[in-house]
Parts: sequence; structure tokens; C-alpha cells
Amino acid sequence: MDARQLKIKAAETALEYVEDGMRLGIGTGSTAREFIALLGEKVANGFNVIGVPTSEATARQCLELGIELKSLDESPELDLTIDGADEIDPSLNLIKGGGGALLREKIVASASKAMIVIADETKVVDQLGAFPLPIEVMPFGLAATRIAIEKAASRLDLSGSLDLRRSGDGPFMTDGGHYILDASFGRIPDAEALSVALNIIPGVVEHGLFIDIATLAVVASGGGVRTLKATE
Ligand code: A5P
Repeated sequence: MDARQLKIKAAETALEYVEDGMRLGIGTGSTAREFIALLGEKVANGFNVIGVPTSEATARQCLELGIELKSLDESPELDLTIDGADEIDPSLNLIKGGGGALLREKIVASASKAMIVIADETKVVDQLGAFPLPIEVMPFGLAATRIAIEKAASRLDLSGSLDLRRSGDGPFMTDGGHYILDASFGRIPDAEALSVALNIIPGVVEHGLFIDIATLAVVASGGGVRTLKATE
């Protein structure tokens, strides 16, 4: 099975958790895209959900497929969010934001009673950090914010490059109008401590560590699909 087929398998299994009438947070990325395509087929056959999209790209795909959408302000409490991830650790802590939608993804997932992560086996790791951690920052004061992040990381014995994400000739711009610094720490032994340390830096809008948010992971490999629950 190729990578796309694994994403479809995970998405198919996750779709079984979606009940008629649910208020559903809808994720972003290539795995979420497969989920949305399957959800669209179900909706075309009479299934009802109210979707809250985590990005403009996801909103566009949902509207093309006839999936009813509301903003999070119109539907601020959700039953379930289904989204991809860049890394998943044994506690179901995640790195997200490879696609740049981490801020809305975290707000939407946090407003949900449950979050199911869909992924192929390559996303499952013993410890987070091999995937560069996306940190969404204000354009104003970028240099100062970068120094503050380096100092906060250093206090946790973390170091590595902080690369301003680019798109074409300029910086990548998130849906919220912010920049992203991709932090290559290599390993993050205490993801919770790093999360807290980043959150108190004024120029940091949000970061891609999702701590205690995911409730289940649906992981597809050549051997089949397995579900993971947090070990602690
Ligand atoms: C989008 O900002 C991300 O959080 C994605 O959900 C994550 O990067 C996983 O994307 P893929 O499913 O494309 O690997």
C-alpha cells in the first residue's frame, strides 16, 4: 500500500466514529483531505454533520463537496474533531502544523469533546521532536521573539535552528496573518514544559505541541489499522 492508501484507510476507520448530526471539527493536511473526501461522499448520500473547518483550504474543499459548515463562533462546542498529525507519541501528545494551520487546529480541537488523530504508521514516534516544531509568531518583533524562543529552549537543554518558513519569495503566512518558525530541536523530552515555556513568550501566538488534546489515534500500516489510546 502506498502512503495515500494508508491515509485513506485511517480516514475510513475514523469516519466510523462520526455520528449523524454531529458537530465536527474538520482538520487540515493531506490525511484530513482524504477524510473530507470520504465524508463528502457520505453527506451526498444523506448523512448530516455540521463541520467547523480548521483552515481556509479545508473550508474550500468542504464547500465543494456540499458539507455544511459553520464558524466556531456559530458552533463553539463540538462533539469531535478529526485531524492529521506530524508526530504522535505514546501519550498521544502531538506535533502539528506542518501544513501551517496549527492555531485554528488547536482552537477547534480544544473546543471539542474528543479528538481523533488520523495518520499512517510513520507518524508514530517514541519521543516528539524529529519533525521540526512549528511555532506561529507575530511578524512584529520577529527577531526579539526568536531570541526569546532560543533562551526558553536553552533553559530546557534544547537547541537547534529556528527557520522562518518560506513560501515563494517571501515568508509563509498563516490564515491568521502570522509567520511560522520551524524549530529543529531533534528531541523534546518534556513536551509539556516546552509548551508552557513557549506559551508565555509574548510574540508566540501558538505552537504545534498538542498536549493532552487527542483522545484516540487511528494509525494505518501495511498490516492494517490500529487504534491507540494514551498510555498515561
Ligand atoms: C496542518 O497544519 C497540520 O497540522 C497537519 O494536520 C499535519 O501536518 C499532518 O499533515 P499530513 O496529513 O499532510 O501529514
